[in-house]
Amino acid sequence: MRFDTVIRHGTVVTASDTFKSDIGIRDGRIVALAAELTDADEIIDATGLLVLPGGIDSHVHLDQPSGDGIVMADDFDSGTRSAAIGGNTTVMAFCIQEKGQSLREALKIYHAKAEDKCHVDVSFHMVITDPTPEVLGQEVPALVEDGYTSMKVFMTYEGLRLRDDEILATLDTARRTGALVMVHCENEDAIRYLIGRHEEEGKFAPKFHATTRPVAAEREATHRALSLAEIVDVPIVIVHVSNREAMEEIRRARQRGQKIAGETCPQYLMLTADDLDQDALEGAKYVCSPPPRDEASQDACWEGLEQGVFDLFSSDHCPFRFDDPEGKLNEKGKRHFRWIPNGIPGVATRLPILFSEGVMRGRIDLNTFVAVTATNHAKLYGLYPRKGTIAIGSDADLALWDPEKRTTLTNDLLHHGADYTPYEGLDIQGWPTRVLLRGRTIVKDGKPAESDTPTGTYLPRGKSALIR
Ligand code: URP
Ligand code: ZN
Ligand code: ZN
Ligand code: ZN
Repeated sequence: MRFDTVIRHGTVVTASDTFKSDIGIRDGRIVALAAELTDADEIIDATGLLVLPGGIDSHVHLDQPSGDGIVMADDFDSGTRSAAIGGNTTVMAFCIQEKGQSLREALKIYHAKAEDKCHVDVSFHMVITDPTPEVLGQEVPALVEDGYTSMKVFMTYEGLRLRDDEILATLDTARRTGALVMVHCENEDAIRYLIGRHEEEGKFAPKFHATTRPVAAEREATHRALSLAEIVDVPIVIVHVSNREAMEEIRRARQRGQKIAGETCPQYLMLTADDLDQDALEGAKYVCSPPPRDEASQDACWEGLEQGVFDLFSSDHCPFRFDDPEGKLNEKGKRHFRWIPNGIPGVATRLPILFSEGVMRGRIDLNTFVAVTATNHAKLYGLYPRKGTIAIGSDADLALWDPEKRTTLTNDLLHHGADYTPYEGLDIQGWPTRVLLRGRTIVKDGKPAESDTPTGTYLPRGKSALIR
């Protein structure tokens, strides 16, 4: 058999196995896994490298409008280029429904934003902000048929949050249509109350973002979301879990027999609320929701990854520039934490950080690394086995990892639109030196490949493996 490309002498890693094999690629797909494949137009030597399925980041925010003159730092061009640099070949971004807007209209806008700009493959989760009978009764069923098989709902953020009865109606629609709902769990009323108290006490610095969004507000909302899902009898995903108490809610719901997926993110392993407490508004760089907690919470999130409470390790990449009137340090945000846009950049650093801090330090094994960064995302969001594994017939989406390469993280390595990384100066071992999207090299020597043409495509998805 003749191949377009052969990857030779690498160590192939999947969610279940680690083995020496060459990989034969034709027409963008993996067509052979065997020793000594040679007959190819292009031969890539992977001696000493790990060959992993390209990362799938199922939680990224790109080119979202955020009102008040705030501008997200990445569009689909820069955001997906940065994703590729970090070893990813698929991202799932959010398509936000404005109040009064149909989901089709919203999707049209986001497809236009992404069109011809993506350096990795892209899919969309629909954020439901206005769950009218029309939206839930007519639109969602049609969209699920068309491959938009996931939705996110928010329990916090004015303008985005849904009431419990609205969440129930959305969950019920998910149950009827076979869609999967992701829930952002924080108690908005408690947060608003605490913000009011902080204002009375003259507490406006970035660090008070963390004290107005305590663990109890996340734990309570997590419990409530799980209860609502139980009432409707539908699987859900609890996204960006930051601490032990919320994690234990997931564990208990599973013990009761509920089908739940749990997600955590790099910020909950690497940052704490102390990072928000710095001079000169530096803390604004770390403002995200839920906020980073403390060392015990970091340990809990590691435990959740080791023990399988978390199926998903996602970036929640939500980038804003720091020193910028359209970013973190906008005029209102300088004076009051509640106007600092929430979110931090991380689509490029997700995999290197978990590899270095998790695999290299012996906290998780390589196969778990692949599972929580790629395979489980494909399975839970309906892309498996086309994406998320290395198997005959799968897309040739591959990250060639140099497990020995040592890097000190600096912002300029990441090719994102933000003017900082929360992980500046972190020493990392292991780096994706070459990335292939459907057989075509998109990253070489850790840099965008010479042509840098956006060849990413939109991916309609099937039903989640969580749904029978
Ligand atoms: O602070 C965060 N995480 N911003 C992104 C929006 C979200 O809630 O996922
Ligand atoms: Zn050989
Ligand atoms: Zn969220
Ligand atoms: Zn998010």
